[in-house]
Amino acid sequence: MTQRIVVTGANKGIGRAIVERILGEHPETFVYLGSRSAERGETARAAMLAEHPDWAERVEVLPIDVADEASVEAAAERVERAGPLYGLVNNAGIGRTGHTFADVLRVNAHGPRRVCETFAALLRDRVVIVTSASGPNFVAECSPEMQRFFTDPALEWEDLDALLQTSLTLDGPAAFAAHGLGDGDAYGLSKAAANAFMQIFARQHPGLRVNACTPGWIATDMTRPYAEAEGQDPLAMGMKTPHEGATAPLHLLFGELAGNGWYYGSDAVRSPLDRYRSPGDPPFAG
Ligand SMILES: NC(=O)c1ccc[n+]([C@@H]2O[C@H](COP(=O)([O-])OP(=O)(O)OC[C@H]3O[C@@H](n4cnc5c(N)ncnc54)[C@H](OP(=O)(O)O)[C@@H]3O)[C@@H](O)[C@H]2O)c1
Repeated sequence: MTQRIVVTGANKGIGRAIVERILGEHPETFVYLGSRSAERGETARAAMLAEHPDWAERVEVLPIDVADEASVEAAAERVERAGPLYGLVNNAGIGRTGHTFADVLRVNAHGPRRVCETFAALLRDRVVIVTSASGPNFVAECSPEMQRFFTDPALEWEDLDALLQTSLTLDGPAAFAAHGLGDGDAYGLSKAAANAFMQIFARQHPGLRVNACTPGWIATDMTRPYAEAEGQDPLAMGMKTPHEGATAPLHLLFGELAGNGWYYGSDAVRSPLDRYRSPGDPPFAG
């Protein structure tokens, strides 16, 4: 039976590579290429079909802005008309550059929660949340109390949401430090929160396999400013390709998984939520 999958933020970067690898490596699939701009989504689809005309019946653009309730609801209604989903990949995200603190939380932390909750009734098997090593790195800099908070397997969304609301009222690194939140890096906080939500959603939906991963350090529009600041080629700086960045998400979507509610490194190996684990290091077994 055809596995139907939604990928958000799929008009470029890692999301687009995830779509291409699903279509190229898993013949019995149909992919909704999620894009907040229908036009950018159609451009990406056309570029894929120029190389792979045989994918034409297997990929459809799904307009979805993960920061917009009405957009997410409309997307879920459209998908529902065709039936249940095998999988959902929450990939859409924004970086630190050029975005407000509130925007980063709205897209990266509230976005996956909004999409997972809205699509929950349609989901039959896998949920992947593309987070970042910035999440565990952020938690590592938190106070012991906040480290317990972010890793608590019994954490409730209401408490996580309240923390995110509080963080919006804090001004400057000293205020964040006083709350045990390191230097208050919005991106790190948003990804730590998305990892914590992943545990909550996994606990609430034991019939699904819900996991998160970092894609690794990947050359995309998000990381381009770092390379430009260094005046270097992204790949020469050690960044990997979007194709490589899709490896861990694809493992969480199709691979044999030993657990549930886990966070994985870019090498598709289980990693801790509260400190960085380098690719190649032994798996986290906590
Ligand atoms: N690149 C890395 O090294 C790296 C490392 C760790 C984690 N990540 C994570 O990987 C994911 C993909 O990042 P990327 O590097 O591929 O970045 P990218 O090339 O900038 O792509 C981001 C994608 O997310 C979409 N997006 C942004 N805001 C959205 C919203 N409100 N609703 C729906 N879509 C939205 C973008 O759409 P538009 O084209 O409309 O802007 C784009 O399709 C992100 O979650 C990111 O945090 C990346």
